[in-house]
Amino acid sequence: MEQQKKHPPVCADFPHMIHGGDYNPEQWRDTPEIWQEDMRLMKLAGCNEMSVGIFAWAVLEPEEGKFDFSFLDAAMDNVYQAGGRVILATPSGARPHWLADKYPEVLRMNASRTRALFGARHNHCFTSPVYRAKTAGINRRLAERYQDHPALMAWHISNEYGGECHCPLCQQAFRDWLKEKYQGDLEQLNHAWWADFWSHRYTSWEQIESPSPIGEMAVHGHTLDWKRFVTAQTTDFMRNEIAAVKAVTPDIPVTTNLMGFFPGLDYWKMKDELDFISWDSYPDWHSPKQEWEMAAQIAMRHDLNRSLKQKPFFLMESTPSLVNWKLVNKLKRPGMHKLSSLQAVAHGSDSVQYFQWRKSRGSSEKLHGAVVDHCGHEHTRVFRDVAEVGALLQKLDGVVGTMPVSETALIYDWENRWAIDALQGLNENRRYEETCAKHYQPFWRRGISVDVLDRSQDISRYKLVVAPMLYMADAATIGRLVDYVKAGGTLVCTYLTGQVNENDLCWLGGFPGGKLKEVFGLWAEELDSLYPGEQNHAVTPSGESYPVQDYCELVHLEGAEALAVYRDDFYAGMPAVCVHSYGKGKAYYIACRDTGELTDTLYGKIADDLQLARALPNLPEGVTAHMRSGGGESYLFIENYNAHPTAVMLDGAYRNLETDEMLQGEIAIEAYGILVLQKS
Ligand code: GLA
Ligand code: ZN
Repeated sequence: MEQQKKHPPVCADFPHMIHGGDYNPEQWRDTPEIWQEDMRLMKLAGCNEMSVGIFAWAVLEPEEGKFDFSFLDAAMDNVYQAGGRVILATPSGARPHWLADKYPEVLRMNASRTRALFGARHNHCFTSPVYRAKTAGINRRLAERYQDHPALMAWHISNEYGGECHCPLCQQAFRDWLKEKYQGDLEQLNHAWWADFWSHRYTSWEQIESPSPIGEMAVHGHTLDWKRFVTAQTTDFMRNEIAAVKAVTPDIPVTTNLMGFFPGLDYWKMKDELDFISWDSYPDWHSPKQEWEMAAQIAMRHDLNRSLKQKPFFLMESTPSLVNWKLVNKLKRPGMHKLSSLQAVAHGSDSVQYFQWRKSRGSSEKLHGAVVDHCGHEHTRVFRDVAEVGALLQKLDGVVGTMPVSETALIYDWENRWAIDALQGLNENRRYEETCAKHYQPFWRRGISVDVLDRSQDISRYKLVVAPMLYMADAATIGRLVDYVKAGGTLVCTYLTGQVNENDLCWLGGFPGGKLKEVFGLWAEELDSLYPGEQNHAVTPSGESYPVQDYCELVHLEGAEALAVYRDDFYAGMPAVCVHSYGKGKAYYIACRDTGELTDTLYGKIADDLQLARALPNLPEGVTAHMRSGGGESYLFIENYNAHPTAVMLDGAYRNLETDEMLQGEIAIEAYGILVLQKS
């Protein structure tokens, strides 16, 4: 494996694995003894970080221009004295009442053009000059007050940005954004939005409105541009928040907590504003789904967060036990807390953090899991689980800054997702995210590390690129894919590839668009949809048969070779899986959606052909392995998602960092167990 350097830790003078979470001492101002108890418990839990102030604006600025930092002064001092650091939040995620009363423009308007009342959270207008000025004001004051405080390790900008505002200010901003994008030329916009369809031609910029159930919802280019605008405007709002703290504390790193594949925002457009990436992860453990499938789904999200900046990220939130907002809020079974926490570390997280430190006494999250329960003491199962993770993390300073090395990239693209979500044709079964997850699983099962990228990234250094359902492929993306294969890369695409450009206009001249037909050596003429429960089969020349469902594309070979053909229906005998040599590389085309077996077999073969590095070979079902390396050190994480102990064969001598034992040969990993080993 290639020799690589370690990345510097987020906080230079605190080079440790971070363990902590959302802490709300402002809710306990009347009980200072609880503040003291929090610090005792924090040390006991092996925590070294608290994220403070996330929703504290109304306490920090109880009246306009009147500030009270006393709770925060105490929290900063207390955490520091307890040996920890603070990730300090800007409070824009929820606003004080006075702000909404005096300046109603800060309240969001929904798509039906109704202004919200004060309430809830995460619902401000991202254009409002007043809200921008007020957030910049409080942010700057926080920065000025704590710039020299030794506890301050990073800024937590707002909280889980998301949602849309359709107020008049946002409408104007949308029009201005469009004017800039289309260089002031309304005809360019009309062309991009294919405006002669249903007589939707615009004759003035003022006619343009955001998508609305009482207005326009049918124009794909319009919907797509609105979503792009929402990302741009949210990013601009965030930039304004960041500028306020950076003006005072230029060297304190900033992050905001992302939400996996949250559909509302294209995180690739936000990442450059952030010094490090962090995200909030809430898996459905112990659901009727296979445990390892859930694990792979979460693994792919961790990989996205690592890939965004190609460096270690933070797990900013996770629950120590259960959440309170799913259909079924199940407790983590013994072992799962450590496994789930260290899974993030295995994929490149330099932290394990929680929502929340202490359960609030009232309001909507009072029954949400926390490190400290209402009982108030440490003698709980959850607290013991957290302390166990704390004790392990304290032994992992060496892991900080190391990284998994990936030779495979999987393309998950937000704009492509938006285009697929909007398109009328696939309807119920589109499942883009799930399909990407299915194509990720074969690598997870084999302990092969994968980077998760959007379609605009440089892919030249990967041995293998997998791009399921890449419906939207603009000319630049097509160019990159063509060059990649020509230069020797291996590319795998599926049905529904390269049908539209960046404006959601169909490519003319046959799918997949442009030169992709040459790369794959085929033409995709039609797409058949199957009813739920219906199946066809893809059959190989040697007679292996794999069930396929949902979509079967009808493709014609124009140079490619069929690796499997359809078994049934009027297209029996037509290619279902193809491969084509192009330049120095190879391009595979999977024309149908399979149930998992076909892709698993195919990727297994490709992985062998390309000799993709595996963290550990021969993994049993339900077990995966990941390697982080850097600075000449390598750390192997072996995760068992089975509810029973599972035997694994090590490929050399390792030191167990938790127990200090030396291990080699066959070992047993306990049910929901994880081992963190250092290669010796
Ligand atoms: C999100 C929020 C937190 C909290 C948790 C509950 O991640 O950021 O404030 O509401 O959900 O799971
Ligand atoms: Zn608005």
